[in-house]
Amino acid sequence: MSDSIERIDFPEHENPVTVFSGPGAIGQAAGLLADLGAQRVMIVCGQTVAGLPAAKALADSAKANGAVRVFDQVEPDPSDVTCAAGGTAARDFGAEAIVGIGGGSSMDAAKAIAAEAIQAGWTQSQDNPGQPTEVDFEPLPTILIPTTAGTASEVTPFSVIIYTETKRKLVLSHPKLYAKYALLDPELLSTCSPQVRMAAGMDALTHAIESYVSKQATEQTRRRALEAIRMLAPHLVRAVEAPGDMAAQQQVQEGAMIAGLAFSKSRLGIVHAMALPLSALFQVPHGVANALLLPYGMRFNAEAAAPLYADIAEACGIEISGLTASQAAITLIEHVEQLGRAIGAPTRMAEVGVEEAAIPQMAQDAMPSAHIACNPRTPGMDDLIELYTEAY
Ligand SMILES: [Fe+2]
Repeated sequence: MSDSIERIDFPEHENPVTVFSGPGAIGQAAGLLADLGAQRVMIVCGQTVAGLPAAKALADSAKANGAVRVFDQVEPDPSDVTCAAGGTAARDFGAEAIVGIGGGSSMDAAKAIAAEAIQAGWTQSQDNPGQPTEVDFEPLPTILIPTTAGTASEVTPFSVIIYTETKRKLVLSHPKLYAKYALLDPELLSTCSPQVRMAAGMDALTHAIESYVSKQATEQTRRRALEAIRMLAPHLVRAVEAPGDMAAQQQVQEGAMIAGLAFSKSRLGIVHAMALPLSALFQVPHGVANALLLPYGMRFNAEAAAPLYADIAEACGIEISGLTASQAAITLIEHVEQLGRAIGAPTRMAEVGVEEAAIPQMAQDAMPSAHIACNPRTPGMDDLIELYTEAY
């Protein structure tokens, strides 16, 4: 293993995924598949990533162990239908392990396909809003390789699935969905557009902020959330603007992953709850929806979470001495708005194709999200409608 690649094992009670991080980390895949005893491997990705030289090199290296099949049908926001097709492909091929490479969509699909490969129809059977996800079997072992620094799907037990018939976007969550290994290779981040790096980076920042103020936060998740903010906030602009700055890319990639350690335990809040219908109904990318809604959600929470926002302001390096907690909270929100503007985040739902007439439906869809229960200030339906209207 090259000196630039670090192996990271977290305490078992915190996170079971073993991470390899550093330029060239993708090269660890073949050896890890051999360790897993997997001779038949299915790579899960989208079509753009399938065409990247790095993905082709990954497939070639995995072939050294046996046979590889590439399932490149993952769309942005993967559907239950895609996961079922992936599961069928994996069973037909006799896959013994799944490698997911791409953004959150591909990694989420890879986790669902690893389960679907063992139990046909599993994804469809989990379309139960408000009910716990059930996995009473062992999915195929999974290696996840992010090409964006945002969702932290590589270290979370979540798989976010769009249900085609019911038009619902649900967060499936079960400890058996955790990957075995995550390979964080900052060189892969330079393969996506600045717009994708913006959306992913703002998603990661939203994870860290919502996790820190979550009602379910613990001392441990708060420590991780602040650690993530210290890595993300100062490097986000540079990481979006300068794809070749590996130091900035690595900071943001590891920051996004650390935020994942926090929010996989604490869950999130009103911003993520409100973002779900934007993607389900209007195909707004997840990170774009969060980037847009983050300042509105933070203003809603400003008083209820003021001392916590003051901590975050300090972690962002904002000078808050002499300010009250409420003033520090407002200063932080303005800082987050400026950061979003600097990297091209949209500020209005009208800009991203959302229809105003859908607001009552969106509020109704956001309300049952588990994230709402974790938000520091409990919103009612009227609050959600007001926030969506403000953000329109
Ligand atoms: Fe997110």
